[in-house]
Parts: sequence; structure tokens; C-alpha cells
Amino acid sequence: MRFARFVSAATLGASLLTAAPAAGYDAAAGKQKAEEVCVACHGKDGISEQPVVPSIGGQWNDYIVLALYQFRAKHRPSEVMEPIAATLTDDDLGNLAAYYSSLKPWRPARQSSAAALAAGPELTQRRLCIQCHAPGLPGQQSVPRIAAQHIDYLTAQLEAFRAGTRGDIDGNMTSAVQGLSDADIGTLADYVSGLATP
Ligand code: HEC
Ligand code: HEC
Repeated sequence: MRFARFVSAATLGASLLTAAPAAGYDAAAGKQKAEEVCVACHGKDGISEQPVVPSIGGQWNDYIVLALYQFRAKHRPSEVMEPIAATLTDDDLGNLAAYYSSLKPWRPARQSSAAALAAGPELTQRRLCIQCHAPGLPGQQSVPRIAAQHIDYLTAQLEAFRAGTRGDIDGNMTSAVQGLSDADIGTLADYVSGLATP
């Protein structure tokens, strides 16, 4: 919550927040930068093979810009991403987002457990996850795709939102996870990581 007041769509600038892929940005230049810097961790085509590194290929343009902006502005603490984002210009942010958002979304790396498949749908309805992340949790615009994301990464982010330590543009995510138990977070991460949403 405490990060919310620092970042707003207005701060980001209307030029950076546009529909995917953003007109005026250069996906080819983004691809070149991605192959120089990002591929080592986020993998080929933005498909990460490391459980603590999120997949970003096919993520929403606006969300990628938002995330990079937050790392660069130190509104989203990350020892790994802050120094990398610090080297990126506004054009790099737009170009990288144009490139990654043009790719096909990643697929699940695992199957959800039977228990998570049974409890997950009700939990994501009752806690309104599907209202913002959309049914199947593919995300929309500045709300990220979370379907099929790595289970370890999802768990860590949900715990960080609950603890108030993850950057959050409007405080909505921080509110959305208040009162969830560790078991609820486990169920959500297990369920969401196995979703094969197109
Ligand atoms: C040394 C490994 C490493 C490199 C290189 C790297 N990243 Fe990351 N990236 C990470 C990790 C780890 C996270 C998760 C940070 C966290 O815990 O919030 C992350 C998070 C992100 C996110 C947020 C995704 C989400 O779902 O919220 C974006 C976007 C991103 N990186 C883009 C990039 C881009 C673009 C580059 C290249 C310019 C890059 N990263 C280079 C490791 C790396
Ligand atoms: C009111 C809208 C809203 C609701 C409800 C909501 N989310 Fe979110 N969620 C967001 C937004 C916006 C972000 C991006 C926040 C940011 O990075 O500033 C986000 C981010 C996330 C992330 C981080 C993804 C990443 O790539 O780092 C996860 C995981 C997540 N939400 C899961 C959930 C789950 C599970 C629920 C239900 C318990 C939920 N969300 C409910 C809007 C919402």
C-alpha cells in the first residue's frame, strides 16, 4: 500500500501506457536488448526455466512497462531487477514491452494438484481474482497474466503483497490478499500455476 502513492498512471506518462504492442516503439530493438541482457534469466522467448524468475513472453505490454518502471524507480524492491532496470531508458522500456508482449504466452510447467483443482475456482471467485485478472487469469492491460506462472514465483509474490513489501500501483493487490492464510496462498499458487489458459 505504501508504494501506491508514489506511482500513478499519470507518473508513468500516457505515452508509455498504451495498448499492446505500443505504437511508436520498436519491437526489433526490444528483441535485440532482450537477447543481450534478459534472456540469461527470463529464457528464450521470455519462457523462464528458473522457478523464482517469472516468465514474461506474452505478458501484457502495459504491465511490463509498469513492472520495469517500478523496479527502476525503486518502488518494487528486487536486488536483481533494480540494477538492471536502472540502466534502461524510457525507450528501452517501451521497446522491450513491445517485443515481449508480441510473443505467445508461456504454457504451464506443471499440473495443479487435485486438491488445488477442487478448491481453486471457488477461492479465485470469492477473492475476486477473476474480476481483475479475468476468467482463466490471462490478465488484461496493466493487470498481469498469472495463469501458468511458476508456482514458486507466485507464492513469493502473494506473500510479499500480503506483507506489504511488493510494489503495487494502486494498492488493490495488497488489499486483495489480506486475510489469506498460508494454506490459501499455497492453494492459489498451486491452482494458478497449472492453468493452461490460451
Ligand atoms: C539476473 C537475472 C535477471 C535478468 C538478467 C533480468 N531479469 Fe527480470 N526478473 C528477474 C527476477 C528474479 C525477477 C523477479 C523479481 C521479484 O522478485 O519481484 C524479475 C522480474 C521481471 C519482471 C516482472 C515480471 C512480473 O511478472 O512481474 C519483468 C517485466 C522483467 N523482470 C523484465 C526483464 C527485462 C526486460 C530484462 C532485460 C532488460 C530482465 N528482466 C533481466 C531476473 C532477471
Ligand atoms: C482489484 C483488482 C485485483 C484483484 C481483485 C486481484 N488482483 Fe492480482 N493484481 C492486480 C494488479 C493491478 C496487479 C499488478 C500490481 C502491480 O504490480 O503494481 C496484480 C498482480 C498480481 C500478481 C503478481 C503477478 C506478477 O507477475 O508479479 C499475482 C500473483 C496476483 N496479482 C494474483 C492475484 C490473486 C491470486 C488474486 C485473488 C486472491 C488477485 N490477484 C486479485 C489486480 C488485482
